[in-house]
Amino acid sequence: MDTPKWVYSEQVKEHFMDPHNVLEGKPDDFDHDGKGIAGSMQCGDEMLFLIKVDKAQEIITDCRWKTFGCASAIASASKLSDMVKGMQLEEAYQINANDIIVELGGLPDKKVHCSVLGDKALRAAIKNYYQRIGEPEKIPEDYNRLICECKNVTEKDIEDVVLDNIRDFRKLQEETGLGTVCGQCIDEAKQIMQDYIGHYFESRKQKD
Ligand code: FES
Repeated sequence: MDTPKWVYSEQVKEHFMDPHNVLEGKPDDFDHDGKGIAGSMQCGDEMLFLIKVDKAQEIITDCRWKTFGCASAIASASKLSDMVKGMQLEEAYQINANDIIVELGGLPDKKVHCSVLGDKALRAAIKNYYQRIGEPEKIPEDYNRLICECKNVTEKDIEDVVLDNIRDFRKLQEETGLGTVCGQCIDEAKQIMQDYIGHYFESRKQKD
């Protein structure tokens, strides 16, 4: 079997070799206001993201992260940690894997799902921040849009499945249960899945 060849951009190499804002020690060694964890069973990675927030302005003033992930996960988290400093919470919440990939100068297709760990953990940290301060109603909702009410599957869940390199609708159903009860969500879910596949993979191929 051929070993896949992954070509990394200079930015990815730099961030992997010299990652920024890495957490030294334990989470409590960094004075933080929000803590988020994301894990990917597929590649066995886990990501921790901590944010310090200026409460009056709702701006991320500092952050730290830690992962046992691969080179792509490390480079993505490092890049993301640079991107979010000084950013409004609402804006930071909207960052998706593709934004990070673009900033990194690209990632091999098979490694795209690794970059989702950082932005997932960041969103979890922002949610955690709003919960800690007793304002959960401020958690942005667009990524939480429910597509399958019977199985509680959101648009973000579909995006995550695509980023795990799954492009077959039946596999999406196996992973999430989407569309397996009343079936009303199927047409919309298929369209969303196609849109994400086009967004993350096919449009990037045309640019290559
Ligand atoms: S809404 Fe998805 S199966 Fe019913």
